[in-house]
Amino acid sequence: MQKRIEPISGFDRKITVPADKSISHRAVMFNCAADGGAKIENALMSDDVLSTIDCMRALGAEIEVNGSTVTVVKPADFRSAELYTGNSGTTTRLISGLLAGKSGEYKIDGDASIRKRPMGRVITPLSLMGADITAGGGNGLCPLNIKGANLKGIDYVMPVASAQVKSAVLLAGLNACGETAVREKIKSRDHTERMLFGLGADIKADGNDVTVKKSRLRSRDMRVCGDISSAAFPLVLAAGKKGARVFISGVGLNPTRTGIIDVLRGIGADVEISGLHDESGEPVGDISLCYRDSLSPMNITREMIPSLVDEIPALAVLACFIRGESVISGAEELKVKESNRIKTIVENLTAMGADAEEKPDGLIIRGKGFLKGGASINTYGDHRIAMSMAVAAALSESGAVINDSECVSVSYPDFYDLLGGGAGTHI
Ligand code: S3P
Repeated sequence: MQKRIEPISGFDRKITVPADKSISHRAVMFNCAADGGAKIENALMSDDVLSTIDCMRALGAEIEVNGSTVTVVKPADFRSAELYTGNSGTTTRLISGLLAGKSGEYKIDGDASIRKRPMGRVITPLSLMGADITAGGGNGLCPLNIKGANLKGIDYVMPVASAQVKSAVLLAGLNACGETAVREKIKSRDHTERMLFGLGADIKADGNDVTVKKSRLRSRDMRVCGDISSAAFPLVLAAGKKGARVFISGVGLNPTRTGIIDVLRGIGADVEISGLHDESGEPVGDISLCYRDSLSPMNITREMIPSLVDEIPALAVLACFIRGESVISGAEELKVKESNRIKTIVENLTAMGADAEEKPDGLIIRGKGFLKGGASINTYGDHRIAMSMAVAAALSESGAVINDSECVSVSYPDFYDLLGGGAGTHI
C-alpha cells in the first residue's frame, strides 16, 4: 500500500512507544522453554513477535493472547515441527539455538527477506557444539533443517557483533554438556543474558564474556518496556523540527541499546533522562528532547554500532538536517538487515534531495540543513526504512510517498499515527 506523508507543521507530544521487540521475542520464547507458566504484560503485538508466538505454538506451547498480555499456559514440548518465522531474524536465529539440543526434527523458514539473510553465522557455532543443522537454501541460507542432537559446550569468540548469534549459542548452551562461553569484541545487546539469569539459568556475564551451563529455566511473570529503537523516530522528528518537543515515557534504557542517546547528546541535542527504574531486570526511564538549533554533524564509529545498529536509518535522516559532513563507519552489518540498509538509506535520501554517499562500511551524509522531499520511497519491505523515510518526509519541504507502507507492522503497527492527523493519507 502506498501512503503519502505530508510535511508536519510542528511536533509537541507526550507519548509512549511500542514495547521492545527484542525483549518481547525473548519473553515469549524463553518462558515457553521454561517450567511452569507466565504472564507477559505489555508484549509487542507486531508481526515479528506474532511469528515467535506461532512458532512456539507449533512446538507445543499453549499461549493465550489478550490485548498486549501474552500468557504462556503450558510450555513447549519441542515436538518435531515446521516453523515459519516470517520476516523475523531474531526468531529464526534464536530458535535455531534453542532447538539444536532438543530431540525433534525441525525445519525453519521465513519470508523472501529471511531467505536472503546469513544463517552461516549461527550454523557455524552450533555445528561446533555438535548440532545437526544444515542450510536447505544452500550457502548458509534458509530454510534451516535441524535434527536434535547431544551438544557440548564451546568457547566461542564472536566473529561479528551480533546479539542474535550470541543468543543462539547461549540458548544451545542451556542444553549442552559442560560450559559454553561466548566472547565478544564489542558488547551487543544483553537482553538474553539478563532474562536467562532472571529465569534461573546458570549464567554469568563478565565484561564482554558470557558463560552458561546446562540449566532448567523457571518461568516468571514479566513486563516489557518501550522500545528505544521505536523511540528513535519521534526523537529524530523532535530534533529535526524547529520548536518541537517530545516526552517519551517508559522506554528501555539498557546501556547496550542507548547509543542513540549518546549520539544525540554528542551532537548537542537537548536530551534528558528521568524516572530511571528497573522493570523485569531491565533499566527503564523517560526520555525528553527539545529542539535545538545548530546541531553538529555526527561521527558514528565501529565500536558504537552494536548499541545503535537499528537506529542508523533514523540517525541518517537527522544528519540531513544538520549542516556539515556526518560519517557512519564500521557498519557493514547494515547490509544484512531486513534490507541492505546502507544502499536503501542512500538511495532514498538521495531521491529526497540529500547529498548521501554509500561507502563499503557505512555512509557519508553532507547535510544541507533541509530536505526537499517529493520522492517515491522504495522501502524494500523494510520496516525501519519505511519509518525513517516517513520521518524524512514529515520534516521535508514537500513530503513523500512511501511504497509498501504497511511493512511498519513488523515493529510499530501504529507508527503513522505519530505523524499526526491528516499527515499520512492512503493513496
Ligand atoms: C536483535 C539484534 C540485532 C538487531 C535486531 C534485533 C536481537 O541484530 O539488529 O533488530 O533481538 O537480538 P544482530 O544481533 O544480528 O545485530
